[in-house]
Amino acid sequence: MLVLGLCVAHDAGVALVDDGRVVGLVQRERLDRVKRSALITPDFLEHALRQLGVTWQQIDVVAISTCQSWPFLFTEPDRFRFEYAPEVAEELDLPAGMQSAIQGARSAFLRHTDRTLDRAKNIAEGMYGEYISVDPARLGDERHFAICVEWPYYARSWVRRLSEDRDVSTREVVAGSLERRVARVGYVTARVEFDGVAKPGVLVPHHLAHAAYGFYQSGEDRAAIATLDNGDVSSPSGGYYGGILAYGQGNRISVLDFRFAYEGHLYQRIGEFVGLGHGGAAGKLMGLAPYGEPAYFHPAMVCDARKIFGRDYCRGDKKLHGHVMAPVMHFASKGFETEGRWLDQMLPGIDPNSHGAKDVTHQKTRLAATAQKVMEENTIATLTGMHAGFTDAGMSVDSVVLSGGVALNCPANSRAARETPFARVRVAPAVDDSGLPIGAAQAVIHDLFDRPRPDVDPNSAEIAYLGGAFDEAAVDAAIAEAGNAIRVVETGDAATAAANDVADGRIIAWFEGRSEIGPRALGHRSILADTRPAENWRRVNRLKKREEWRPFAPAVLKERAGDWFAGGPSRSPHMLFTAQVRTKDLPAITHVDGSARVQTVGEECGGFRKILEAFDARTGVPVVMNTSFNGPGEPIVETPAEAIAFLTSSEIDAVYVEGRKLVRATDEES
Ligand SMILES: [Fe+2]
Repeated sequence: MLVLGLCVAHDAGVALVDDGRVVGLVQRERLDRVKRSALITPDFLEHALRQLGVTWQQIDVVAISTCQSWPFLFTEPDRFRFEYAPEVAEELDLPAGMQSAIQGARSAFLRHTDRTLDRAKNIAEGMYGEYISVDPARLGDERHFAICVEWPYYARSWVRRLSEDRDVSTREVVAGSLERRVARVGYVTARVEFDGVAKPGVLVPHHLAHAAYGFYQSGEDRAAIATLDNGDVSSPSGGYYGGILAYGQGNRISVLDFRFAYEGHLYQRIGEFVGLGHGGAAGKLMGLAPYGEPAYFHPAMVCDARKIFGRDYCRGDKKLHGHVMAPVMHFASKGFETEGRWLDQMLPGIDPNSHGAKDVTHQKTRLAATAQKVMEENTIATLTGMHAGFTDAGMSVDSVVLSGGVALNCPANSRAARETPFARVRVAPAVDDSGLPIGAAQAVIHDLFDRPRPDVDPNSAEIAYLGGAFDEAAVDAAIAEAGNAIRVVETGDAATAAANDVADGRIIAWFEGRSEIGPRALGHRSILADTRPAENWRRVNRLKKREEWRPFAPAVLKERAGDWFAGGPSRSPHMLFTAQVRTKDLPAITHVDGSARVQTVGEECGGFRKILEAFDARTGVPVVMNTSFNGPGEPIVETPAEAIAFLTSSEIDAVYVEGRKLVRATDEES
């Protein structure tokens, strides 16, 4: 069974899953070079199918992740669009109960038409415009959208009763749900048309797609699943949930509860508030938090979201909302006074007027640290309550799967691993919305159609290497295209040469095999530098034109990780956990609180692993700085031509593309 998975909002992408095997994921940002680019255009769909090695005619089912409060938008409805189609449920031979639920859901969707049209216009013209590379005027009429379906899924079921009863704890709801053996999530069927050929489609709720991706890539047969996301149930547009709590067993995923959590939303808002932009705010805030202390944290912010916010939060009651948020928002409402420099005390040697540093006040770092603590404490409280619910229901579950964008927060993941009763915390590499196309397709194959799951090694970087690859001819063509601007340097073994470059103080890029999916570069599209000289922190930030306070991550030979890092899980192949650095010898990757976001590197990482081995052989240090191969605000480099363009437009010393060392023609040294 060939299922094509789509995410059509921001982080748009197309995935192909062949029964259980994930063939690949094509992220639109990697093609149009707009970070977190939104919308599936017909041209992009054509490109993605070609890259995935399949034709539209071969596809059996199209799985489409819903997009929280985004409607589905179609740039060229004559070529590509979809519509709700209850009759497809029969064609797909879905159980009768599910068919009637689909009929009921359809009428609920149609009630949302007006709001959706407004929302469609807002998305294109408002703050989300940064993700959209098509003319918003083209999205103006009804043929260009299908209604957002997030709420109706939840509106007509047992879930609604559970959700409205906010006086019970997560623990009680989880236990109660497990005892009742609930419940399949509602799928909705659609007809998907591309260039005149229709295919059956299945719409998969956003959080089920997150949960499915995390669970089916976890290698666990049974697991608790928590999706942790930006959610805002009080927003004027109707809002959306911050996640679900679920139980995965074998092929099936049962939803236990809906999360009204606010910590993901608070984190995003504070990131924007302190001036870190919109799309990348959360990631930057994680790096800023260790500079401050959580001065505005209050225990009331740690809560079972049901009890504290309850229906009043849901309805936007400002009094209660204000009560819980008071310490943070009171401060925020006063604005920021200038309090002198802060970073130069925290990061000795930094130029206080350098890029990104002069605007960082002590207050901003305190606010960042507060948001971080709120997130960590709530994650732990949720997972602890969830575990207790399983225990109360007489079930022993050792593993928890975290998914959703908040699960990119490495310190929170690490504390979950250390401080909750779960023995294993599983986080897959594309848990943000970039992984939704895979999750939607997997949900349809395994949960809906009950097809068996393949074996997956969650500790392998292979599950991240699902992007594009380029053969020798493509590399040759890109080199030829660059003409006199660059020069190929003979090296013998490229990995050894790269390791020697790094040890000699050069900053290089390494491009190899299939690109990484998700936001973190894991050695296939990476910039590498020596971890030992303190100045490399600033050198690489300058080269990448990033804020100078932003930290860098280490990649370490997996079997040596324990010698250099403590307090993190023994395997962290996707750079999703932090640990404390055990030595003072690696200042370029040691954050001011002594932590680092570790990537453990196994044999499956190919030439990247060989670089670490060669670097270790020469220096005795099996640790190299690894940061994503991209310029400021750009998606990760995808093609050889983009790698070469980076070389010719930056101060990087060399770029290795599929084993070939490239330098600028004007540079003497090799
Ligand atoms: Fe999400």
